[in-house]
Amino acid sequence: MAVERTLSIIKPDATRRNITGKINARLEEAGLRIVAQKRIRLGRDQAEAFYEVHKERPFYVSLCDFMTSGPVVVQILEGDQAVERNREVMGATNPTDAAAGTIRADFAESIEANSVHGSDSADNAAREIAFFFKDEEIVG
Ligand code: CMP
Repeated sequence: MAVERTLSIIKPDATRRNITGKINARLEEAGLRIVAQKRIRLGRDQAEAFYEVHKERPFYVSLCDFMTSGPVVVQILEGDQAVERNREVMGATNPTDAAAGTIRADFAESIEANSVHGSDSADNAAREIAFFFKDEEIVG
């Protein structure tokens, strides 16, 4: 199987509740390795640029408000088919649709405050990883 990397973000609803360790445990138990990680506060410009793909969506402004409302943990996960594996572990965007035992089913507060973000394709993973990390910050 192909070893891949994907970008993950632990969102402000999760940092506020001090459950970043519980989320990291779920990721590691799923076979994903955290090869880079930092806790940061997103600036408005950063949040708007990161979510630019959603610019025309009705939730864009609220999403950027939320993502800048507290610290986030940005991380790179590595493993076999990491993009898809992480999406399985996260569960569906809307926690009411997320499968039992997934991070969002167990921890998300709402479709917006859904605890984690994960890249949705290998191409987006590469773009999102480069958005937050320099090569020397990644230690596999
Ligand atoms: P994320 O995976 O970070 O990608 C876009 C985010 O927009 C999503 O998770 C949610 O946090 C947020 N969001 C808010 N409302 C919606 C919605 N109706 N549909 C999809 N995403 C939404």
